[in-house]
Amino acid sequence: MDSNEVNKLLGGFLGTCFIVFSIGLVSDGLFASPAPEKPGFAIEAQEPTEGGAAAPAAAEKPIADLLAGASADAGAAIFKKCQACHSGEKGGPNKVGPDLWDIVDRPVAAHEGFAYSSGMKDFSKGGQEHWTYDNLDHFITSPKKFVKGTAMGFAGLPKEEDRANVIAYLRTLSDNPKPLPQPGAAADASAKPAEAAKPADGAAKPAEGTAPAKPAAPAQ
Ligand code: HEC
Repeated sequence: MDSNEVNKLLGGFLGTCFIVFSIGLVSDGLFASPAPEKPGFAIEAQEPTEGGAAAPAAAEKPIADLLAGASADAGAAIFKKCQACHSGEKGGPNKVGPDLWDIVDRPVAAHEGFAYSSGMKDFSKGGQEHWTYDNLDHFITSPKKFVKGTAMGFAGLPKEEDRANVIAYLRTLSDNPKPLPQPGAAADASAKPAEAAKPADGAAKPAEGTAPAKPAAPAQ
């Protein structure tokens, strides 16, 4: 290899470097992306209220109304998110979270063999609180806001249709699915399903104490 060839190689190498750097500079100029003033992903989902008379605190449609148009099939797809931590089969295992078989109207923090957080135990009011449709809706909206200190590390489902669909699906995880709440009824009253099927209804209380169970029961 004489010095001429070495020069050619060196020259070629330097030339390549020059071109690569130039392209870098030019494309930096062309595709310059100034930092946005606001981050693009700051989503604060606040659904506008649609004349919702029933729930003054939460500016959202009552779950009873939403469930009337909900799809358990669509909810099954959403439940996949929950399945990272929950099983839904009868007698299914507790995973990161408790098994959710028959969760609708189940007493809060009552699944055998699961060590609930003290936040969830407080919320259960010693077993009096149940997973009414309303409670489920509020909890799934934003678990940590609704149950202070809960160990459920899930951000929540901001879309009301998603919640209605997944709750419609949860309702099917039962040998004896609870009646749907009556659309248009006051949110809390409608959350209490019929006790008629259970003999021991002295033990079960309406979650909010707002309405006696039997008159509120839909005729099904
Ligand atoms: C990252 C894991 C995780 C995900 C995802 C998750 N959960 Fe949970 N969930 C938990 C844990 C942990 C608890 C127990 C909370 C406590 O003790 O505070 C829990 C508790 C619950 C309870 C109360 C159960 C009881 O027996 O009182 C319900 C209802 C529930 N989850 C529903 C859902 C639904 C519906 C979804 C999907 C939309 C979901 N969770 C997604 C971890 C999760």
